[in-house]
Amino acid sequence: MKTLQFTNGDLMPILGLGTWGSAEPSVVYSTIKQAVSIGYRHIDCAFIYGNEAEIGQALSDSFKKESLITRDQMWITSKLWSDSHLPEDVQPALEKTLEDLQLDYLDLYLMHWPIALKKGVFLPESAEDMISLDDLPLSETWKAMEALVDKGLCRHIGVSNFSVVKLRGLLADARLKPEMNQIELHPYLQQPEMLDFCRENGIHLTAYSPLGSPGRPPIIKVEGEPVLLDDPTIAKIAEQHGITPAQVLISWAIHRNTGVVPKSFNPKRMQQNFTATEASLSQNDMQDISDIDKNHRYFLADLWAIDGSSYTLENLWDE
Ligand code: A2P
Repeated sequence: MKTLQFTNGDLMPILGLGTWGSAEPSVVYSTIKQAVSIGYRHIDCAFIYGNEAEIGQALSDSFKKESLITRDQMWITSKLWSDSHLPEDVQPALEKTLEDLQLDYLDLYLMHWPIALKKGVFLPESAEDMISLDDLPLSETWKAMEALVDKGLCRHIGVSNFSVVKLRGLLADARLKPEMNQIELHPYLQQPEMLDFCRENGIHLTAYSPLGSPGRPPIIKVEGEPVLLDDPTIAKIAEQHGITPAQVLISWAIHRNTGVVPKSFNPKRMQQNFTATEASLSQNDMQDISDIDKNHRYFLADLWAIDGSSYTLENLWDE
């Protein structure tokens, strides 16, 4: 499988398994075991997904009991939740993730959002739950993340949901530069300026919601939104290549040299998504897809824009 190379030579398999979604612990466990047997060597996790313990058990069994693979053959990413942005909370947060995942180190640890919450707050309900970035700058949290690399608790650090403006801010101050920005990326949200900026600055991108997140909870769906998997251009290309629309979307991300982490807890779709790494799109296909950009976010993330707080959608996305 194609890989993305990090500055020290480490290689991240370009396709990973996304794990955000509600499922019984036994389903998460069996999903990860199946993913490993299918050939997935990159799992994208996060503390806030609430399933790292099940993932950890499946990984541990795959490594130790069944000797299916070794730790160094897997790339494991996780993310720091926003309630642990205070420098003294960063290492304990990673240690909790490592304990749940039953790992000694992560390959990649990302700051999940450029948002700071008070300790113990999962999702903010009022401005009281939030800490402004003036009071707790992202660069302070970043310094604590740099120390995690020094201690060998993670190999690489990066961010998620950062705009170009926020990446610039972090780069200005960073001792270790962020090596990854994981953001929503798909043909309806192509973000060409972000791609150019990251390419120029040696930052990799990973696409989340590459299929347009059809399974997201109804509360964050907007009526009448375009459905990416039903797009006629994607359907036409899928038919021409004898593959599915989901495979076209995954292949498109790979052709742009971005990591891609489609979530599936369904063995057939996991297999289908994995096979997308073998698909080859032509320049014409890529051009046709580039023409369907709508600058449409499925994750507007308006949960952060709480009245009375310092956070707004404008200053979150810097748009
Ligand atoms: P499931 O877990 O039942 O397979 P995204 O990664 O864009 O957030 O999309 C994830 C959603 O897309 C999940 O609801 C997942 O459901 C569904 N999904 C994953 N793979 C496919 C596929 N190949 N075709 C259609 N839907 C898919």
